Amino acid sequence: MAVLITGGAGYIGSHTCIELLNAGYEIVVVDNYINSKQESLKRVGIITGKDFKIYNVDLLDAVGLENVFVENNIEAVIHFAGLKAVGESVILPLWYYHNNITSTVILCNIMKRFDVKNLVFSSSATVYGIPDRFPVSEGFPLRAMNPYGRTKLMIEEILRDLYESDHSWSIALLRYFNPIGAHGSGLIGEDPNGIPNNLMPFITQVAVGKLNELSVYGNNYPTIDGTGVRDYIHVVDLAAGHVRALEKVSKFTGVDAFNLGTGKGYSVLELVSAFEKAIGINIPFKIVNPRPGDAPICFADPSKAKRELGWVAEKDIEEMCEDSWRWQANNPNGYNNHSELLAEIESPRLLKNSGDFLFNRVH
Ligand code: NAD
Ligand code: UFG
Repeated sequence: MAVLITGGAGYIGSHTCIELLNAGYEIVVVDNYINSKQESLKRVGIITGKDFKIYNVDLLDAVGLENVFVENNIEAVIHFAGLKAVGESVILPLWYYHNNITSTVILCNIMKRFDVKNLVFSSSATVYGIPDRFPVSEGFPLRAMNPYGRTKLMIEEILRDLYESDHSWSIALLRYFNPIGAHGSGLIGEDPNGIPNNLMPFITQVAVGKLNELSVYGNNYPTIDGTGVRDYIHVVDLAAGHVRALEKVSKFTGVDAFNLGTGKGYSVLELVSAFEKAIGINIPFKIVNPRPGDAPICFADPSKAKRELGWVAEKDIEEMCEDSWRWQANNPNGYNNHSELLAEIESPRLLKNSGDFLFNRVH
């Protein structure tokens, strides 16, 4: 029995593959690499010393996806695959609706046909829009602010309808707050295309000298120093939350949403200071206009995940900064160039196997 990981080559997916493999799960990854590199999965194999199957399949390709279910004994799915850039979704809404929503409908149809009804879905704190109270709990009103956010909200609703139509489904909607950090090995991490949209990859690229200075979007919010406040969560903690959610969906039927955050908010300038302190590198910044659509403050009430999944985030802001930096420093060009660190480790052997890829560690 295996767990299918859609979008497993991506930032959160690759870290979750490690946690699942370390917990003894067999996994099968499907990704079309539209926003990732196969190299991340190669490194997952190196870190864990475990083999797993990888399919280069677009989730919109129903035939290709069905073949994955034919060739493997899938028991559950963790569904990460999706496009996630807010600005891009405003410019290309139809692409986002098609890629994120149509693919989820295709996936669920195939799951239904194969009687696989345990699903963990990557939702987002973006479904809360601009919340007016804090911390944010799961019962708060939902109001997405852009096409990307609406894809998450619509998928949540589709999955609720699916459960209503058939109570044998078991679905966890995981609402992530702000994942940062990287695996402690420094081998995998976030590898954004072009200039990063998100704060931490921007900071690390300034620190490594690829960008000159950080633009801080507004300093007039009602926060400790006027800059936006977010709930930053270490991606390894977030990944561990998926293992807990998988255990939950394997034991109960239903559909339920869970916040995955730390419950603590840090302002932009507090994060910059924490990074400078942890790393010992100064981050030059300038204050610019607020980014349209940004919430002033957003941090989670994660007590439901603690109560019902037995999960809490354990890593602090210092470790988030150190691990983000280790990844960036060792891989200044992300997965595009092999890092010196990786060169010291045995190189993985790629075995091509009738359309599937299987990575083996060479001993
Ligand atoms: P990511 O872009 O690194 O990973 C997504 C993966 O899905 C990529 O490997 C991409 O190639 C793949 N993919 C996209 N469309 C596909 C398709 N049609 N078929 C096959 N593969 C496809 O993003 P991430 O940060 O790892 O996020 C994972 C999930 O979590 C996404 O659904 C995202 O919306 C959600 N999320 C992310 C954040 C965040 O801040 N990173 C916050 C909240 C929610
Ligand atoms: N910020 C800056 N300068 C930058 C980038 C960000 O000042 O160059 C500020 C933002 O204004 C915000 C904070 O840093 O106050 C965090 O911004 P991010 O872009 O890192 O994160 P967001 O909270 O805006 O959004 C992220 C994802 C969304 C997801 C949301 C909740 O991009 O897709 O977290 O999970 F929905």
